Amino acid sequence: MADFGYDITDHRAVDPVFGTLADFDQLLGRAHDHRIRVVIDFVPNHTSDQHPWFAESRSGRDSPRRDWYLWADPGQDGGPPNNWLSTFPATGSAWTLDIRTGQYYLHSYTRSQPDLNWRNPLVRRTMSDVLRFWLDRGVDGVRVDAAHRLIKDAALADNPPPVAGARTALVPGALQLRHIDQPQVHEVLRALRATVDEYGDRLLLGEVGVADPQRWAAYYGNGDELMLVLNFAFWSQPWSAAGFRRVVQTIERVLPPGAWPVYALGNHDLPRLASRYDAGRYPARTRLAAMLPLTLRGTALLYYGDEIGMTAVPIPPELAADPDGRDPSRTPMQWDSSPAAGFTTGQPWLPVPASARAVNVVAERDDPGSLLNVYRQLIHLRRRLPALRTGSYQPVTPEDPAVYAYLRRAGSQQVLIAVNFDDQPRELGYRLPAGSLIVLSTRSAASQPAPPRELNPLRLAPGEGVIIQLT
Ligand code: NOJ
Repeated sequence: MADFGYDITDHRAVDPVFGTLADFDQLLGRAHDHRIRVVIDFVPNHTSDQHPWFAESRSGRDSPRRDWYLWADPGQDGGPPNNWLSTFPATGSAWTLDIRTGQYYLHSYTRSQPDLNWRNPLVRRTMSDVLRFWLDRGVDGVRVDAAHRLIKDAALADNPPPVAGARTALVPGALQLRHIDQPQVHEVLRALRATVDEYGDRLLLGEVGVADPQRWAAYYGNGDELMLVLNFAFWSQPWSAAGFRRVVQTIERVLPPGAWPVYALGNHDLPRLASRYDAGRYPARTRLAAMLPLTLRGTALLYYGDEIGMTAVPIPPELAADPDGRDPSRTPMQWDSSPAAGFTTGQPWLPVPASARAVNVVAERDDPGSLLNVYRQLIHLRRRLPALRTGSYQPVTPEDPAVYAYLRRAGSQQVLIAVNFDDQPRELGYRLPAGSLIVLSTRSAASQPAPPRELNPLRLAPGEGVIIQLT
C-alpha cells in the first residue's frame, strides 16, 4: 500500500485490506448477474520492493532473478547511472542505490516500486501467466498501467534537458523521454493483446502518457495492440472551447483506421473534476464537462463521484497517505448523508467532507436538476440515439472561440452538440433545420420539459450545453 495497489507483492492474491480472492469472485459474479462488466488494473511495469522476486533480485549480483529488474552501476561521479527522474516529483531520481550490492535499481515511481525488466523473456512469460490468471477468473478486461513505460532505452542514455515552454497537442509541457516509449514496447503489447484475444470479448485498455500524437496513436498498432488508448490531453486541458476542440481534432486525425477513441476527464491521479474547472465559481462547468466524454465519438470513462460533483477533500496532514498527494480525489464515495456517507460502517482511512450531507447520491437522485441527473440523461440519450454512440464526428463552427459544436451522424440520424465554454451568453453560429429538437440542456431540470426556445439563432446561456436532434 505504498502506492495503493500499484505496488504488488503477490499477483495472484487480493490485499487483505480489501478481502480475499473468494470475495473478489463473489463481487465479479454479482456484477455479472447485473450485466455489469469488471475491468481490473494490470500493473506490469513494476512490483513492490517487498515482492519475493525483488527480494531475490537484490540478494546478490549473481542472483538468478537479478535481471528481472533493472540494475545499473553508479554513474562516473558515483551518483545515479543517469538523469532519469521518477514520475513523482517528491521522489526525485528514478534510481536508488542498493548498498549491499553497490548497484542502483530503477523505479519509475516510488522507491518501493522497482521496475521489471521487460526485455527478459522470463518476465514476459510470467506476467502473461498473471494476465491469464485473472482472465481465467472471468474478468472482462484489464487496464494496462503505465503501458508506455515497459521498455527503457537499453543504453541508459540521459534524457535531453527540458525545453522551456515545450508543448504538444496531447501533453502540454511533456517531453520525449528516453525511459519511456521505446519501439520494443509495441512487441510487448502485441503479445499481451494476443493473450487477451484468446479469451474473446475482453477489453485491453491502456494508460499511455506519450506527448507526440503519432507516437501515441501507434499504441493501437494495426488493431493488434491496445484496444483503447487513454490520453492525458483532456487532463491537462485548461477550460477553453478551442483547446478541447484541438485535442479531439488531433486524436481524430492521428487514429489509425478502425481505431476507437476513449475519453476521460477524471481519474484517481487527477484533481477532482468539479474542483478543477468550477473553482467554486463556475458550477455550470462541471455540468458541461459531463457532456464531452458522453457525446464525443468514443468510449466514455467516468470516475466515481464525479457524477455527483464530489470536490477535492482537504486532508489533514496526519491522514495524508498517498506519496503523490492524490488523497483529495480518493475519498469515500458519497452515497448518502450519514457520517461515513454510506460507504462503510467502519472508519474510512480518508475523511468524508461536511459537504457530503448535500452532495450524495440519495439527495441528487431525487433532485431533477442535479448533476447526477444530467449524467443520467446523457447516458439515457446515448443509449437511445445511435448517432451519439457510434456516429461519425464532425466539428462545426471550427473558429468559434467560445462554443465548441459538433455533429454526430449515424444513418439518417443527426445530432448536434453545442457547448458554451464562456461565462457570457453566446449564439450558436450554425443554422438548425426546421423541426430540430433540443433533447437536453445542462441548464434545465430533467423532469420538466424545457420551455420552447428560438432556434435560429440559438442563444446559449453562460456555460450551457445542449444536445439537438436534427433529424
Ligand atoms: C499510473 C496509475 O494511474 C497511478 O495511480 C500509479 O501511481 C502509477 N501508474 C504507478 O503504478
